[in-house]
Amino acid sequence: MYDHLVNMTKHEILLAQKEFLFPAVFNYYREPLVISHAKNQYVCDVDGNQYLDFFGGIVTVSVGHCNESVNRAVHAQMDKLEHVSTVFANEPQVELAKKLAQITPAGALTKSFFTNSGTEANETAILAARCFTGSTEVIALRHSYHGRSAGMMGLTGQSTWKLGPPQAGFVHAVNAYCYRCPFGLEYPSCEVKCAQDMEQVIRTTTSGRVAALIAEPIQGVGGFITPPKEYFKIITDIVRRYGGIFIADEVQTAWGRTGTKWFGIEHWGVQPDIITGAKGLGNGFPIGVTIARPEVADALKGVTISTFGGNPVATTAAKAVIDYIEEQNLLRNTEEVGGYLKNRLLELKDKHQIIGDVRGMGLLFALELVEDRTTKAPAATATLRLMEAARENRILVGRGGLYGNVIRLSPPMNISKSDVDEFVQRLDAGLAQTASVA
Ligand SMILES: Cc1ncc(COP(=O)(O)O)c(C=O)c1O
Repeated sequence: MYDHLVNMTKHEILLAQKEFLFPAVFNYYREPLVISHAKNQYVCDVDGNQYLDFFGGIVTVSVGHCNESVNRAVHAQMDKLEHVSTVFANEPQVELAKKLAQITPAGALTKSFFTNSGTEANETAILAARCFTGSTEVIALRHSYHGRSAGMMGLTGQSTWKLGPPQAGFVHAVNAYCYRCPFGLEYPSCEVKCAQDMEQVIRTTTSGRVAALIAEPIQGVGGFITPPKEYFKIITDIVRRYGGIFIADEVQTAWGRTGTKWFGIEHWGVQPDIITGAKGLGNGFPIGVTIARPEVADALKGVTISTFGGNPVATTAAKAVIDYIEEQNLLRNTEEVGGYLKNRLLELKDKHQIIGDVRGMGLLFALELVEDRTTKAPAATATLRLMEAARENRILVGRGGLYGNVIRLSPPMNISKSDVDEFVQRLDAGLAQTASVA
């Protein structure tokens, strides 16, 4: 049915990629997987193999590939109005902004600025925080990922993703990585020392006046590092005492991904001043958004434009995604099916010594792989082998973590328990293959 969509052979596609794309465009696997088409939870390659997709194009396919309800709205909008830029008003943009204002925590973040990516959403957030507070210094966390502009690479807390020169005005506090505690302590007897340390960070590495703390509720690229329940209250209280506001980078954790709530940060019971989002909002359509308290948005004086920001097609897609999540009650499905997935992953942990940690929530789960459960030496090479074995068993998973030893799972939020069973059976086979060549 989709044969006509690929005119080149796999070999020609890979040769053309090598010749005409920047080599920095890296692909997973020894031989890159060339995708031809996808539907719902399945992705097909050009050789006709079908894969159960538990990564969703990096936490982006929130409601299934080529979702019919979203695409119906998109097709209609494409025939009506495709582009205007932010210098003209249009209905889809304000429809989406109105909806976002209704679903943000406590309904307190009511003003949106639309862009094309998570990187731009974070750039806008930092600019707004600086305008609002009159301060410039920003605190991020170690192991964080905030994007690929010069500024956002500066804020990112992983060497792999920091290209280019260092950026002034950013410092990095320790994160709450309980599996590898930065202080070598154990939760809860640690009394969340990683969070308490924020005061020392501000007093010893900044001027004492900060513009913002930016943090992911669950660190995505870092390997779905999930802080204990006290963490965000402690660090945001400290940062606010020194004049800073709190930016929740929800590029991976928003739109119900963590189950029961629209936004990940709601699980920690703190109120952000700005939320940034992208990825799953468009289900694959490029969109980024910075949603702020009105006073913070109003502080961004002067004028700014975004050529594609608020694009009528992208905002129509995003509104249709949110409507679909509501209509299908996916906040509940994510919690329920996610709970089931967690139990099945814990069963795999009992069976396979290589799994050192299972963490996450909703439908956002990580397996951290180790060579030895006592030393916790990262099993980076075995993780690469497991990626290959997963492919052979026709499942797609992601890889991440500072040491490249974390398997990341983020399937569409409308999967069922039978998808989980199918996935776990195949992952189990992949883990067995990985162990047999160790
Ligand atoms: C938490 C987080 N923030 C920001 C970004 C940057 O988003 P984009 O790739 O859309 O620029 C990412 C991308 O992975 C992310 O995970």
